[in-house]
Amino acid sequence: MKIAVSGKGGVGKTTFSAMLARSLAEKGLRVLAVDADPDANLGQALGFPDYQKLVPVSDMKDLIAERTNSDGENWGTYFKLNPTVNDLPDKLSVEHHGVRLMVMGTVKKGGGGCICPASTMLKALMAHLVLLHKEVLILDMEAGLEHLGRGTSQGVDFLIVVVEPGRRSVDTAEHIRQLAGDLGLTKVLIVGNKIRSDKDEEYLKETLKDFEFLGFMRYDEEIIEADMEAKCPTDVAMNAKASVTAMADKLIARSEK
Ligand SMILES: Nc1ncnc2c1ncn2[C@@H]1O[C@H](COP(=O)(O)OP(=O)(O)OP(=O)(O)O)[C@@H](O)[C@H]1O
Ligand SMILES: [Mg+2]
Repeated sequence: MKIAVSGKGGVGKTTFSAMLARSLAEKGLRVLAVDADPDANLGQALGFPDYQKLVPVSDMKDLIAERTNSDGENWGTYFKLNPTVNDLPDKLSVEHHGVRLMVMGTVKKGGGGCICPASTMLKALMAHLVLLHKEVLILDMEAGLEHLGRGTSQGVDFLIVVVEPGRRSVDTAEHIRQLAGDLGLTKVLIVGNKIRSDKDEEYLKETLKDFEFLGFMRYDEEIIEADMEAKCPTDVAMNAKASVTAMADKLIARSEK
């Protein structure tokens, strides 16, 4: 099962990704969580004790140089466009509470597009993960769908869009669905987050009428406290955990169909 999580800034993509990863791992699935947001913080949401020391793949200069046959940084020289990456998820991921994590990092865009050894590595790695990797994959993304090229997006089973009650996040969901459609990705599911009342839930159901909902998560002080203490909400916010576990069950049932 390959799951990409998107949505407007700050809606709870990372929180949900971390909790979903934990829930699926608790059900005995092998889960690889991938932080594909340049502003990486999935490690913290997963409660990794040394999250500040996690090194993104994009910063592994020696590895990039070795795999692309380049000096890693020099853009003027030739380098391999199809680096070997299939061993990397096992080699580079770190595990905590049954969830393995890999941080992709980011490549600073220079002039003339972005065909440099580091971006080539990230692209090859992403394609491998989505198309060939054999475990449950959860991609915590930034709001755009830049990470999903035409080819890779077809390997994603579910695009989960996290929304909160509010016009802007709803509009973003529409926009993401459009982009997803253009990429050939049709299984879009909504998670309503930060729900404070039945009215909030109704608002989302009404404004996103023709979307399929995976579930809802209440606004929860315990999630904020977990965040402040760099803990995974799964370990402290039991109501939220129950909501996410129910969503994990639904996803498993849905993927077995
Ligand atoms: N259900 C919730 N109740 C209360 N606070 C929440 C809830 N879900 C997320 N938050 C809080 O909202 C903030 C943003 O959450 P998070 O970082 O998961 O969002 P994001 O969509 O990944 O943000 P970004 O766009 O910056 O990556 C965090 O402080 C988090 O603790
Ligand atoms: Mg995030």
